Amino acid sequence: EPIIITDKDEMRQWSRSIRAQSRTIGLVPTMGYLHEGHLSLIQESHKHTNFTVVSIYVNPGQFSPNEDLSTYPSDFLGDIQKLKSIPGGVDVVFHPHNLYDYGKNNGVKTDENQEEVMVVSCVENSGIGHETWVRVEKLENGLCGKSRPVFFRGVATIVAKLFNIVEPDVAVFGKKDYQQWRIIQRMVRDLDFGIKVIGAELIRDEDGLAKSSRNVRLSPEERKKALSISKSLSNAKSAAGKGHIDCKVLRDSVIHAIHEAGGEVDYAEIVDQESLESMKEIKSPAVFCVAAWFGNVRLIDNMEINV
Ligand code: PAJ
Repeated sequence: EPIIITDKDEMRQWSRSIRAQSRTIGLVPTMGYLHEGHLSLIQESHKHTNFTVVSIYVNPGQFSPNEDLSTYPSDFLGDIQKLKSIPGGVDVVFHPHNLYDYGKNNGVKTDENQEEVMVVSCVENSGIGHETWVRVEKLENGLCGKSRPVFFRGVATIVAKLFNIVEPDVAVFGKKDYQQWRIIQRMVRDLDFGIKVIGAELIRDEDGLAKSSRNVRLSPEERKKALSISKSLSNAKSAAGKGHIDCKVLRDSVIHAIHEAGGEVDYAEIVDQESLESMKEIKSPAVFCVAAWFGNVRLIDNMEINV
């Protein structure tokens, strides 16, 4: 049975009591609607720490007003059931109501708060008292940062807040969100958070589709079409393994395959695994990152290519 904590001061107290006993804490930040990808991060945390905290918080700060904040899937009770069922379980579920409310309603969900928080995403001076943002200036620019301009500052900021509240020793992120993982690593280094960041492998469904909370919003037909992403990526990866290292050719093949299937490509880029700068030829460790729309669902996927 995990302890469920909603109050941030209580969360910090719990962590401090654990750390006072020289025990270590792993944090797995999530937005809920958990699947096996999330659960694998928890297993990874168990390998490194005595205790594991999972945070479940749909962060309004990383959504633009035109994005899917209001329809983001959630199932808190289902999530708790899943967390109970995994080997080793989890120790704490941190489930705050509103991490941008510093007023007298701190932590209490009201309709008024919810509406104010909706505005935090895109507006610099949103009038809710929050004006501090963490930016990782270069890494946040390309890939997902291009079409989602406030996304990574929202992610970096909420993760910094969670780090300050939970005070973990280790934090685990999935390589499914490759750019996010690299940005958090850089933030931790640049701002001297004393936290070890671990990147966990991308988990796929049996047919290859990268697991994502948003997959439930695909119709069965769209889901089939969306397999073109992982299929074309894996074809490109094996082509690269056979010496076809020209990035333009590889990118074109992926873009073509996704278009054929009826998807709309947001980007398909081959970039350096660390700097995320694009490459002409694959001569050093690369990662092929893709974002594409099927219907009104935006999916991302990637494969590392080490030739
Ligand atoms: P969310 O999309 O819920 O993902 C939470 C964590 O699970 C992230 O580290 C993500 O990379 C990882 N994850 C998701 N699908 C995965 C898969 N198929 N395989 C492996 N790992 C996977 O990412 C976020 O939430 C938010 O941006 C967050 C970091 C919580 C900040 O709000």
